Amino acid sequence: MKRRDFLTKAGAFSSASAIGALSAPMVLTGARRALAASDDIPIGILYSLTGGLAVAEHTLHDAAMLAVEEINAAGGVNGRKLNAIVEDPASDPATYAERARRLIIRDKCVSVFGGYTSASRQAYLPVAEQRNALFWYPTLYEGRECSRNVIYGGAVPNQQQDDVMPWAVEKFGGRFYLIGNNYVYPKEENNYCKKLLAELGGEVVHEEYVPFGHSDFSSAINRIRSEKPDVVFATTVGDSDVAFARQFHQAGFDPEEMPVISLTRSEAEVRAIGNDAAAGHFTSAPYFMGHDSPENQKFVSAYLNRYGEDQVTHFVSEAAYFQVYQFKAALETIDLDNITTDAIRDAAVGSSMMAPQGEVLIDENLHTHLWPKLGQWQENGQAKVVLTASDRVAPVPFAAYDGQTCTGAGLIES
Ligand code: ACM
Repeated sequence: MKRRDFLTKAGAFSSASAIGALSAPMVLTGARRALAASDDIPIGILYSLTGGLAVAEHTLHDAAMLAVEEINAAGGVNGRKLNAIVEDPASDPATYAERARRLIIRDKCVSVFGGYTSASRQAYLPVAEQRNALFWYPTLYEGRECSRNVIYGGAVPNQQQDDVMPWAVEKFGGRFYLIGNNYVYPKEENNYCKKLLAELGGEVVHEEYVPFGHSDFSSAINRIRSEKPDVVFATTVGDSDVAFARQFHQAGFDPEEMPVISLTRSEAEVRAIGNDAAAGHFTSAPYFMGHDSPENQKFVSAYLNRYGEDQVTHFVSEAAYFQVYQFKAALETIDLDNITTDAIRDAAVGSSMMAPQGEVLIDENLHTHLWPKLGQWQENGQAKVVLTASDRVAPVPFAAYDGQTCTGAGLIES
């Protein structure tokens, strides 16, 4: 499929389809679990299919399941099929922990693919570490963590901000208004933003955090109107980001004068926001749906064929997809009759593969080398890339904290 073709298709739906138009989830019931052959390899798929974060997380489930289906259709892993066991943590961190436990203890999954917000990752982390289980987490996040039980496929702050911040300060000015949801990810990401702003001679005019699911941004809009920042730096997630973007647009702000630079808004949120309201604003991410590569054309075309021509791929679903292939590649090098977390991790570290965004590599700190970009949203719901890193960028999980680093053993050294 030509890039032009899927861009046209991706832009062809109306924004009215929005949140209600998610594709039907494929949930394996207990009965379907029982049909799994005894030598199938059990894996967990743990993304919210319901609740306020389903707008993003549903697409992660779909992307991971697409990879599982493709792998099984092509003969599995050395002849053994992946048996994907799906749980819905319903956008609730406590349910995340409970379902993670179920997948590890009851279902004996050798890996779990899941988590979107850092709140969800932190909820399953104790289960992962206590049981020495392996979780594959596809989302951009704040860093400041180096568990030996998580393989991190999304960008950390240096991969989302290092190129973008100098560019933004130069182009728009250094007065930043920071807005995000009230949890660890926006706060830590903003710490790094403040560090870079200080180096660049910029300033934070206001910093505010709203609860998950927050939908009335009138007081933030009033404050933005009176502060007149150069840039609104947004880390709102899920339905909060959709509400914020719509109300920002309704307030009549001109993106050329006062752009939103988001670290979380992907094609999935833009689809829910409506193309008009999103257009002109920016997102920093290592992947956009329109990326021109054979691997991406294959991914997008398979995704649209499987889930519908009006669906979108994005920088978190891309990682949810390629991480299943990284797992497969690791399994292919180990003894499938004795699959352990240590064996999978050892095989995965240092491995590289051609992902839709380009060649990605798992660092010994278990984070991923990625290809940072800045995209500006267009009227068709797709991003035009305005800034691209000249090379793949290594993850620095402690970039905001001078002198701290992950060691290969997963320890934090100061
Ligand atoms: C996030 O919470 N890591 C977006």
